[in-house]
Amino acid sequence: MQLSVIGCGYLGAVHAASMASLGHTVVGIDVDEAKIAKLSQGVAPFHEPGFTEILQAGIDSGRLTFSTDFAAAADADVHFIGVGTPQRKDGQGADLTYVDASVASLVPHLKAGSLIAGKSTVPVGTAARLAEIVAPTGAHLAWNPEFLREGFAVKDTVDPDRLVYGVADATRDEDVATLDAVYASILERETPRLVMDYATAELVKISANSFLATKISFINAMAEIAEVTGADVTQLADAIGYDARIGRKFLNAGVGFGGGCLPKDIRAFTARAEELGKGDSLAFLKEIDEINLRRRQRVVDLVVDSFDGSVFGKRVAVLGLAFKPDSDDIRDSPALDVAVRLKGLGAEVVAYDPEAIENARRLHPQLSYADSLDAALEGSEAVAVVTEWKQFRELDPAETAAKVARPVIFDGRNVLDPAAWRAAGWTYAGMGR
Ligand code: UGA
Repeated sequence: MQLSVIGCGYLGAVHAASMASLGHTVVGIDVDEAKIAKLSQGVAPFHEPGFTEILQAGIDSGRLTFSTDFAAAADADVHFIGVGTPQRKDGQGADLTYVDASVASLVPHLKAGSLIAGKSTVPVGTAARLAEIVAPTGAHLAWNPEFLREGFAVKDTVDPDRLVYGVADATRDEDVATLDAVYASILERETPRLVMDYATAELVKISANSFLATKISFINAMAEIAEVTGADVTQLADAIGYDARIGRKFLNAGVGFGGGCLPKDIRAFTARAEELGKGDSLAFLKEIDEINLRRRQRVVDLVVDSFDGSVFGKRVAVLGLAFKPDSDDIRDSPALDVAVRLKGLGAEVVAYDPEAIENARRLHPQLSYADSLDAALEGSEAVAVVTEWKQFRELDPAETAAKVARPVIFDGRNVLDPAAWRAAGWTYAGMGR
């Protein structure tokens, strides 16, 4: 099929290349000329395992192109909207500027019978509003939320847990058939496919992310209780996780959740509920947010306490800047936040991340960045592991002790073995253990 994907960020670019890998002819469109230039040359504008390979293969096949011109989308049977919906600068709600602009720019180029399939995470009610704008063109609109995780984006796109189609009653059968044709090879594997109305599809996405955020803050709340009782939250998580109704996934206590999705989504959902007169229903999400933000300060407090109350002039190695491993994304990153907070207290922060330094430097040029893990460790008086990259998880306690000036480590992700680190002479502190 002929497809267009509007927005070539983490979601859109991966979707475009993945759809080309499934055999479709795809044009990716973005207003950012630099991004389009890079993608056209087969260069990934962000770090995502497996993405460069399918990007280059798509370009080589001739089925994947990129453009800044919406006219390039005119032949497409389906237009996916994958632009960002960041938090508004003046509030907690979602900023729909890019979604609205995408639809407005597409409208003059839509052919009758084509389908716009929104993938962006939007406040409930958005699809119905956009459908009215699209209706006069004879094109249709569906909402087809995306559940990919950064770091696994390609796999999650070509082999998703489920497909969700939010469709209009009037054109239901036709639009379901169109999306089924796009995802034919995925559906062959009997991937669950759920058809519903717009509002439900919009809510599926935002409630899934809210549930995940709640799960993480739940275990972080348990970490706070563990910290005042001497309990170990990692053992607690293992033990409750064996109950299949609870499950062990997303029960890792630590410095909390960040990224371009979970934090802004719970805020946008709360704001939307308030608009709908149902603020009470989601009031708990504010608590989820607060628990999450407290955990960043907890790491900072632990570091400061280890220097008897003042970190001024102390050399602290911050290991990790990305919001999670296998990503260079620093949006709302707890790791970067910890580095910035320590720097704000006068610490001599030396930060290292295998992929995210360039992005971090652009936003926070005041921090010092090390070229290598060893350079970050060298002479440090405290080490804070705040993103669980494999190379940090696999650090050897004895070898690492020989590099630092003072063997004190803060395990902001609970990924190190406390006994092994203590045995090698380290003072170890985790999160709620
Ligand atoms: C999240 C969802 O997991 C995806 O399903 C969704 O499609 C995506 O948002 C989106 O809306 O686009 P992502 O932001 O890539 O995906 O990251 P997650 O894997 O959910 O991790 C989010 C944060 O939670 C990270 O900072 C991670 O370190 C943290 N986390 C995760 C924990 O602190 N503990 C855990 O047990 C798990």
